[in-house]
Amino acid sequence: RSIKSLATSPSSHILRRGYASEAVPDRKVAVLGAAGGIGQPLALLMKLNPLVSSLALYDIANTPGVAADVGHINTRSEVSGYSGEAELGKALEGADVVIIPAGVPRKPGMTRDDLFNINAGIVKGLCQAIAKYCPHVSIEILLKQVCLYATALVNMISNPVNSTVPIAAEVLKKAGKYDEKRLFGVTTLDVVRAKTFYAGKAKVPVAEVNVPVVGGHAGITILPLFSQATPKANLSDAEITALTKRTQDGGTEVVEAKAGKGSATLSMAYAGAIFADACLKGLNGAPDVVECSYVQSTITELPFFASKVPRCFAPLSDVALVRLGKNGVEEVLGLGPLSDYEKEGLEKLKPELQSSIEKGIKFANQ
Ligand code: NAD
Ligand code: LMR
Repeated sequence: RSIKSLATSPSSHILRRGYASEAVPDRKVAVLGAAGGIGQPLALLMKLNPLVSSLALYDIANTPGVAADVGHINTRSEVSGYSGEAELGKALEGADVVIIPAGVPRKPGMTRDDLFNINAGIVKGLCQAIAKYCPHVSIEILLKQVCLYATALVNMISNPVNSTVPIAAEVLKKAGKYDEKRLFGVTTLDVVRAKTFYAGKAKVPVAEVNVPVVGGHAGITILPLFSQATPKANLSDAEITALTKRTQDGGTEVVEAKAGKGSATLSMAYAGAIFADACLKGLNGAPDVVECSYVQSTITELPFFASKVPRCFAPLSDVALVRLGKNGVEEVLGLGPLSDYEKEGLEKLKPELQSSIEKGIKFANQ
């Protein structure tokens, strides 16, 4: 059963606003796990995003109510709700960005890796569907394949991210649809936390703060680089150590405060919406879109690593196909100068991250 509700939207499919007065193209965003603790507020935030023209909300149950509710908001996008596996294909068809917060959250005393047994299977199934139903565009110029767009941009939120992203990569590889430039582990919440905690300690306006967070998304694999934080502040070693630890344990802080009722949902929805917005801006050709994300990487010896990723996506529309080769340049930025404390943290995180990556790859290939 699909619920379609058309919010008050402009008669034209193209909106004019934003950077360089370019036309804003139609963009479909699908949220898988949309009826959950993250899914619902994330659906709300994506409904508020003027870059979205179509919002597909999918879950195994309870999506019609969420879609009907969100669909009454008078913003641009058309909202559709999809319930149950039989409707997954329709939810994914034509999606530009697929956000995945499907899966179980932690309870106190659990690690993110304790979620692996349930969430790995969920993510595997969803990625198989993404490979099957999401657009696959390639162009041939003079018998040469210049670009191959394998699927929508996949924003993986489901934990353990350190393993679910490698699982997604393997599943997409098997289906011949993997493009490493289009798969992201969402680590934005670590950045959001690092900014908040740093602003509080450094007594600087939080809106001005930037802190890169690299590595992975679990415990010590989360490595905030406070030595590169701006605005600069004279914090002691002890303060930096405390800030680092609080950022690494931010998820656990929320899990414990919620006392068995789940993990971060509202701050995660906010972070997920920021990252999806960056993806949409990148797709639409906005310049200098830079976010931290856990992606396939060569900046360390680990095959996946979170770092600053500027993305210059060329749009998936016909108009843009000619520009793909020229403007589809993507680069994973290096780590920049690290303090001795951060260098030590980097070496410490590698074995854990490596083993989470291997665990994901092994599971996907079973
Ligand atoms: P939740 O239990 O409230 O919601 C999960 C939703 O997923 C439910 O509505 C459930 O029906 C749905 N679901 C289960 N199997 C599904 C499937 N096969 N297809 C589609 N939907 C399915 O949990 P939550 O609090 O929203 O957390 C979701 C996940 O996000 C957890 O794994 C959690 O650990 C993770 N998380 C990640 C971050 C991050 O920073 N990356 C932050 C917070 C939470
Ligand atoms: C978080 O960082 O809040 C999430 O990864 C959820 C969790 O289990 O901590």
